[in-house]
This record gives sequence, structure tokens and C-alpha cells, in this order.
Amino acid sequence: MTQTPAQTAPQMPAQTAVKLADYQPYSHVLDRVALTFHLSPQATRVQARLHLAPNPARGSGLDLRLDGENLVLIALAVDGQRLELQPDATGLTIPAHLLPDAPFVLETEVEIAPEGNTALEGLYMSGGMYCTQCEAEGFRKITFYPDRPDVMARFHVRIESDMPVLLSNGNPVAAGPGWAEWDDPWPKPAYLFALVAGDLVAHSDRFTTQSGRDVALNIWVRKGDEGFCAYAMDSLIRSMRWDETAYGREYDLDVFNIVAVDDFNMGAMENKGLNIFNSKYVLASPETATDEDFARIEAIIAHEYFHNWTGNRITCRDWFQLCLKEGLTVFRDQQFSGDMRSHAVKRIEDVLMLRGRQFREDGGPLAHPVRPDAYVEINNFYTATIYEKGAEVIGMLKRLVGDAGYKAALDLYFDRHDGAAATIEDWLQVFEDATGRDLTQFKRWYTEAGTPQVSVRDDWADGVYTLTLAQTLPATPGQPHKGLKVIPVAVGLLNPNGDEVVPTTVLELTEAQQSFRFSGLAARPVPSILRGFSAPVVLNRAVSADERAFLLAHDTDPFNKWEAGRALAKEVMAHMITDAAPVSRNWLAALARVALDHGLDPAFRALALRLPGEDDMAATLAAAGHVPDPVAVHAARQALADAVAAELAPVLPGLIAGMATPGPFSPDAAQAGRRALRNAALALLTRRDGGAAARAAFAAADNMTDSLAALVALLEIGAGAPELAAFEARWQADRLVMDKWFMLQVLYAAPQDLAAVVRRLTARPDFDWKNPNRFRAVIGALSANHAGFHHADGAAYDLLADWLLRLDPKNPQTAARMSTAFETWPRYDADRQALIRRALQRILTAPGLSRDLGEMAARMAAG
Ligand code: BES
Ligand code: ZN
Repeated sequence: MTQTPAQTAPQMPAQTAVKLADYQPYSHVLDRVALTFHLSPQATRVQARLHLAPNPARGSGLDLRLDGENLVLIALAVDGQRLELQPDATGLTIPAHLLPDAPFVLETEVEIAPEGNTALEGLYMSGGMYCTQCEAEGFRKITFYPDRPDVMARFHVRIESDMPVLLSNGNPVAAGPGWAEWDDPWPKPAYLFALVAGDLVAHSDRFTTQSGRDVALNIWVRKGDEGFCAYAMDSLIRSMRWDETAYGREYDLDVFNIVAVDDFNMGAMENKGLNIFNSKYVLASPETATDEDFARIEAIIAHEYFHNWTGNRITCRDWFQLCLKEGLTVFRDQQFSGDMRSHAVKRIEDVLMLRGRQFREDGGPLAHPVRPDAYVEINNFYTATIYEKGAEVIGMLKRLVGDAGYKAALDLYFDRHDGAAATIEDWLQVFEDATGRDLTQFKRWYTEAGTPQVSVRDDWADGVYTLTLAQTLPATPGQPHKGLKVIPVAVGLLNPNGDEVVPTTVLELTEAQQSFRFSGLAARPVPSILRGFSAPVVLNRAVSADERAFLLAHDTDPFNKWEAGRALAKEVMAHMITDAAPVSRNWLAALARVALDHGLDPAFRALALRLPGEDDMAATLAAAGHVPDPVAVHAARQALADAVAAELAPVLPGLIAGMATPGPFSPDAAQAGRRALRNAALALLTRRDGGAAARAAFAAADNMTDSLAALVALLEIGAGAPELAAFEARWQADRLVMDKWFMLQVLYAAPQDLAAVVRRLTARPDFDWKNPNRFRAVIGALSANHAGFHHADGAAYDLLADWLLRLDPKNPQTAARMSTAFETWPRYDADRQALIRRALQRILTAPGLSRDLGEMAARMAAG
């Protein structure tokens, strides 16, 4: 089923870019669609009836172009008249002279083979069930259709199959033995189409909306998994309630179905009324899922549910506008998770992710704007920039217009664009209309790539404190001109006693350089800048270690309190690497105070104890003009962890005992925070006691969080082989838990052993590499072992390239996604650069390379 360009030249196929500037409305309007599926693994028949008419916006007399890939055309008719036309490789053109200049019905019948579909796009089979994935352009692998998001139609679907459960979008209208019919009253683009047929069981509940609509909720899983759905269902109900209270948005169908599938390229998909999920983000029990898994399930269930309004009712005009739905929906799921758990902890986690993934992307060869102007393969643009930076941009907008302005703008957005396909221009317009604010300059956040840098100087004279902020925009490859941005910089001031004397104020930096004055202060204050990480920028300010320690102790803004500790840790680590400095005593003391501060949320204390990761450290060194040596970074991080363990040694047993969670397991934030702190302490203790406490904790653990944490603590000191074996013996029948087992061994392999460990794991019969979760657990984890991936022998680079080339013909999307492991090559020394470039070159020149992986490799190689 994969689009295989095997017939093209062995050189990289010419890559034609789709350009935003070329957008044109579709030639026709499509009002209603009726689809009939006769399901069969090798030969599924799909009949489609499309009610079309010339689009007045385009005029009459135009050809009708339908997308279609790997479809066997059986029959074609216009208004009942058979036509004998041949499709080409990407679709079917019906010349204008064969079409009436009035509404007409186009009928097609095609044959497809879901069983052979390993790309997991279109209609495919997973574990004996039929399922679909149509975003972004998968519907064209199901039937001939205008597969573009601005063509919105009402769908009626009939499924014929002997599978017991037959599902599609919308409401069920009729069913009988071997068939079912579904009707979706809401117009939607084809990417939101879904169909599921299988031998499934439901975990069911009900929800009554604000206005009294009774909604049947079902989570469909394979038999035996029904006991693992309670948390996902609870998350769904809380999401539905939250969208009513926070955004005034209620659900609009009689049923909401979620299906869990084992083979899925992404996390989950928001198909109208029929969300399809990677089973990893549905199935959970205390024994099988960690606290992080629970939090992730809650967030993804919410995210896909929230798309019902931000994505489905209002969709995107074209794929360049992807952040319109993804950035906004991520922003909404972040707000939700913050409300459910802790805003401070959520913000820190989100910023860690933003810096680790989006800043990395923005500073390398794959940099692109939140709204790109061109792409070759749209699947390559579901990126950290579209998602995470897309959400940050909305956070900035909200900060600039205030909560009331944001609410007014969103109400107007839902009102004005419901049922339509919108653009970023439409989105900004509602903010301008609702608040009167001119957003011309702000729009650059959407159209320009790169992470702005903000530098800060301060001055104290005659009782006036002056902050001078300046913005600079690093040149990004392929993104030449940069304009000044509007940067909201949230600032608070503390007096030397640590009391806040100026509460959080948002300074708007719009010029290259601007000064902001604060008067009426008794003494020179200590500034807390970029509170809450109020803009996705790099803050440059020479701050003394003492001042950072002061902020770590006193800042009232929890993000900046954490940030002070983080910055200190990075500085300490950088000095260890670049000038062989000893671990700073002051830093250790400051860290210990936070770790033991009972007035603080345990989850926050656990985050403060988390040391900067090696990739993060390598990026920081590179940004400071050094060439990071992965061996030295690894050694420094180990030494730092040992030093923290030594400093805290006397108090660790007490901390562990004090963070016990008596009573039954609950995945709530309070218990999860206590476990996080306890397990952080256990990991430190393990560096001192040879693993005794961790072995005991592993043996005693009654939940996956504690079990996995004990195992990781042991693996980090190079022990844990017996526990790994015990873990495998216990969980070998559970695919999701075994993914963790595979991944751990990759993450914690000694750097010099990584390639051999991965070779051993991939030789196992249960390394089912066609399953994306298993592939990600092993091959996707390679680069997360920073020192191992960048080992000077280049073995891991080659191994990754080998596996990407092997996966590419089967599943190009997942292969392309994993290739981003190579995006950081410009950071490293000439030898490593040459090795990575050689691997990229080998990919680029492979025969039959997919458009997906081809585009990624070409962009990285050009960087
Ligand atoms: N619409 C996407 C799923 C998707 C992504 C489909 C790429 C096709 C191509 C969905 O809403 C989504 O964003 N899922 C995320 C999880 C989310 C919590 C950020 C995912 O799958 O990773
Ligand atoms: Zn999404």
C-alpha cells in the first residue's frame, strides 16, 4: 500500500514542494458523501457517491481532479452514466466536458487491500481489526476524493463485514447482522473520516452535556483489555466537563467512541465522534502504567477531545495552517492538565520539552516557521515547532490581550468560523476585532523561524531601577530576513531580603532595545525575568551564582525558582566540562535546601533534583561556542549525580521514608509527586549503597512507577541484570510493558555497548519492528542515549541509518520521524559530523527512498 517510487531513479527523487502561495479553492463544492464498504483483508470494495457542483468561487467549466493512490478503479459514473477513464499515479481527472454545469452525482467503486498496508495510513489492519488513519492525506488511499481540508461534506457510511463491531463517524442510524450504517450530521474534511471493524469490547459510561444532551461514551478494546480503560474514561469525562466550563464548548453527537489499536504511527487521532488511539495512550492500570503514563493518557484523551471544536467544527483551510488546530489544541490541553494537576509543575515540564525538542529543531537544519510556506511531505510537519511553539505563541497572545480579551476573541472565533476551514489570518483577526489590538508585528511569530534571544542589562541610580531589554534574531538556514517581534517579558522584583516588591508585570519588548524604569524602591532589587517562561526565547543575562541561588531560595514565581536552579546546575556542569572545575559547594547546598523544603510541592522538589540531560547540555555548550564532547558531558553528569548523592546522603533514607504513599494507589498529582521525589531520592541513594535499597524497592513494588524507578536506579549504576530478567519473566505477554523493557536497555546501555545492545535486542523474536511502538522503543531510543549514540566509532549512527532504510519501504512516516535523531550534527566535531553526514548521504542515495525520508534527509544534509 505504500506509495513506492521504486520505478524512479536510484538518485533521490525530485522533490516537488507544495507552496502556501499557490493556494486556490477547490474547483467544486461537495455537499454530501455516501460511502459503502465491503470489508475483506485482501480485497475491500469501496463505493462512493459524491454530490458535487461547480464552485461559484472558481467559476464553471473546470476539470474535476480527485486524489487517489494505490486504488484499483472498478467503476466510475457521472449522473449514472458510466465513464471509462484511467487514473494516474496520484489521482483521477474528469475533464470538464464530461461534467454538467450544475449539481451532479459522481459514483466510484474501487478495490483496496488493507492487509498489505504496512504504512498504517488509509485503511489497514491491526491485530485482526480494520482501522483507518486519514490525517493528513490518507483518505486518498481509501477512495477517489478531493482530499484537502477545505472541502467539507456530510458523510453517510455503510459498513458490510462479519466483524461484530462496526464503527464510523457521527451517530449510529441502523444496523443488522453483517452491516451497520452511520451518519455524521456535521460537515467535515476527509482527514477526519474513520472506520473501525473488529471483535471488540467496550468500557462504557455516559455523559450529560450542559444543555442536557445524553451522550453514550465507549472505549473499544480487544477482549481482555477492558479492565484497563477506567482512567482513560475518567479523563474523557473530566475533559468534556472542562471544555464546557473553560471554553463554553459542548459535545455535539449522541455517541463518543474511542478505539485502542496496537499499530499506530502517532499517539492518537481526533476523527469526528470516533477517536482512534495508540493503545499505549488508553490502556493503564497501576501495575502496568507509570505516573507519567497516566498523565500522558489524561493529556492525550483531552487533546483529541478538545479537537472536536478546535480542529473539527473549525478546521484548517490547508495544511500550512496546521498550527491553527494543533497549536491551539496543545495550548488547551496544557491548560487542562494544569487545572487538573499543578500549573507550576506542568509549566516546567512543558518548557523542558519545548527546549529539548523545539529549540533544538529551531536551531538546526530542520528549522521552519510555526506556519511554514512550503513542504514536500506534510507528514514531516507534525513537528515540535507546529505543536509546542504553536502553543507558546497562543500563550503569548493571551498574555498580551489578557484573560478577558482572550475569552472574547475565542468566543468570536467559535462564532465566526464554526463549520468552516480557517487560516492564521482569520485567527489573528478575531483577536484584533475582539480587543482592538494591532497584531501585524505579532504575526511574525507565525511566519519566521528561529528562537529570538533577549539580552538584559540593569541599572540602579537615584532610586530608579532600569531594565534594558534587547532582542536579536539568529539567522536560520534558509530563513534569511527577520523582523523585530513583540515579546512579552513577565518580570517581578525582589528586595534584598527576598520579599517581592514589584509583582509580576508584563513588559512588552517591541523594539530592538527598550528600557523599562521602576521607581519608588528602597534598595536595588533582584529581578526575576521571564517569569512563567512568558515567551519562547533564550534569555541572555550574566547572573552571578549568588543571585541565582537567591532566586532559587526566594522567587515567588515557581517557574523562575526552578529555572534559577536549572541555570545554576548547567553552569556548574559547563565549568566541570570546559575548565575541569569541581562541583560547586554553594550549588549543592542550595539544591539540598530545595530538596528538603517541606513547604514545597514534592513534585516541584523532584523536578529541582533532576539534572540537565546530556543532549540539553550539549546544546547549551554549542550555543556558548564550544564543541561538545559527548564523553565529557556524560562523565560530568555522572560526577554531578555522585556529588548530589554524597551531599544528600545523610538525609536520603529519611526523605524516602517521609514520601511514602500509604493507602491504595492513586494516579493523582499528589501521590505522583510524592513518588517522584521518593524515587529521585532512591536513585541518589543507589549511587551510595551499591543498589541495596533499590533492589528491595524493586522486590516490594506493587505499581509500575515504583518498579520501573527502582530498575532504572539500578541500571544507572550498571547493575540491574537480575531485575531486568525478573521484569521480563513477569511481563513478557504484555506488549506495552515490554516496550518499556526494551527501551530501558537502550537508554541505560553503557555508551560503548549501545550498538551491541541494540543488535542483541533487535535479534529477538519479539522485536516486531513493523509495530511502531516497538520500533520506537528500541531504534527511537538510540539517540536518547546521548553518549552512546555519539560514540566516536559511529556504530550507532550506522545502525540507525540501517534501520531507517529497512523500515522506510514499509512505513515511511515513522522512518522519517525517527530520522530527526541526526538533526543536531552541526553541533559536533568534524569527525562526528563526517560520520553523520555519511549516514545521511547513504540514506539519500538509497534506491526507492520515500518522499518522507527523502525530504528529511535532504533538509538535514543541506543544513
Ligand atoms: N491530529 C493529530 C494526530 C496526527 C498527527 C495525525 C500526525 C496525522 C499525522 C493528533 O491530534 C495529535 O496531535 N496527536 C498527538 C498527541 C497530542 C497530545 C499532541 C500525537 O499523536 O502525538
Ligand atoms: Zn492534535
